[in-house]
Amino acid sequence: MKAVVYHGPGNKVWEEVPNPTIIDPTDAIVKVETTTICGTDLHILKGDVPAVTEGRILGHEGVGVVTEVGAEVTDIKVGERVIISCVTKCGVCSYCLANMPSHCQTVGGIGWIFGHLIDGTQAEYVRVPFADNGLIRLPEGVSDEQGVMLSDILPTGLEIGVQYGDVSQGDVVAVIGTGPIGLAAIMTAVPAGAAKIIAVDGNAFRLAQALEFGATDTININEVDDVAAALKAKSDDGLGVDVAIEAVGVAATWNTALASIRPGGNVANVGVHGSAVEFPIQDHWINNITITTGLVNGVTAEELLDEIQSGAIAPEKFTTHRFPLDDIMEAYDVFENAVDHDALKVILTAG
Ligand SMILES: NC(=O)c1ccc[n+]([C@@H]2O[C@H](COP(=O)([O-])OP(=O)(O)OC[C@H]3O[C@@H](n4cnc5c(N)ncnc54)[C@H](O)[C@@H]3O)[C@@H](O)[C@H]2O)c1
Ligand SMILES: [Zn+2]
Ligand SMILES: [Zn+2]
Repeated sequence: MKAVVYHGPGNKVWEEVPNPTIIDPTDAIVKVETTTICGTDLHILKGDVPAVTEGRILGHEGVGVVTEVGAEVTDIKVGERVIISCVTKCGVCSYCLANMPSHCQTVGGIGWIFGHLIDGTQAEYVRVPFADNGLIRLPEGVSDEQGVMLSDILPTGLEIGVQYGDVSQGDVVAVIGTGPIGLAAIMTAVPAGAAKIIAVDGNAFRLAQALEFGATDTININEVDDVAAALKAKSDDGLGVDVAIEAVGVAATWNTALASIRPGGNVANVGVHGSAVEFPIQDHWINNITITTGLVNGVTAEELLDEIQSGAIAPEKFTTHRFPLDDIMEAYDVFENAVDHDALKVILTAG
């Protein structure tokens, strides 16, 4: 089969590799029909994730058909259409039992292993460990393109942004950064009851998209002197937003998030940070604030499928570009230069 193979920083090749086979009796093999590229794949290609070694097949998002199951797979059947969760769940360790499989201890100490510690989904076939826990049946009426957004981005926006931020009925929510992850937080904050969602970015295309995804207001960082002050000015009483969701991963947006919340407010940090930020506790100890961080758990797929089927969310809006799987190198070019191409998610479909 063919797959995107990592050959060290800056180097990936769509090349012929051996087909995956069942290794453990709880494995399944899935023929990948739809996959996509994540910002994390670009981090890996920059060399930012040293656990990814040469020869690794990239990708942690996908929808496909089960072609083979191991002897201990009891629920998932050959021929079923499935969404592959980016988080692998053994189902029995203390973290899995606590509904925090992002820290599943059975598969390398972390739940994200596809395209990281084991071969991933940017391939014609993929081996899925603990298939009964990590594969989600694709129901009637949900398309592959909708389903593939449930592998990673929608659960990330919902779980680490909206749920950790405790977005509640009537809340004023700031979403700082409107890439796919920020947009996923915006999309899922609407059914959570947010009354006002203020999208913050410097990219005019993405801010326009944010309004389509459910934002009520936008702030272009290039058009205001003080982003936090602009956010406070848009809150109900000027005291600040109830929840600030940080979806970038740099000091500037962390500072904005902290400076924009009201006393009692929440900062939900979703961004992956590469360096330290400051926390001025001398200013904030008095403010009764809550700060959360986290890696996606991938435990909200059923809830998200219900929202797709009821029409509450429309994840097909993420797709800006479509390619045959064979042209995945071209898709990488577009995604790596997302700003020039007005790209959000690029969809790859097997022939
Ligand atoms: N916690 C998790 O489990 C998890 C999972 C997936 C992704 N992430 C992280 O979430 C973050 C967002 O991912 P993405 O794919 O949407 O990334 P992206 O790069 O596509 O989007 C980031 C957006 O932030 C905007 N931006 C940059 N600097 C800004 C600033 N100073 N103020 C406001 N906006 C600014 C950019 O214009 C861009 O639109 C990344 O750090 C990613 O690694 C976290
Ligand atoms: Zn991802
Ligand atoms: Zn586990």
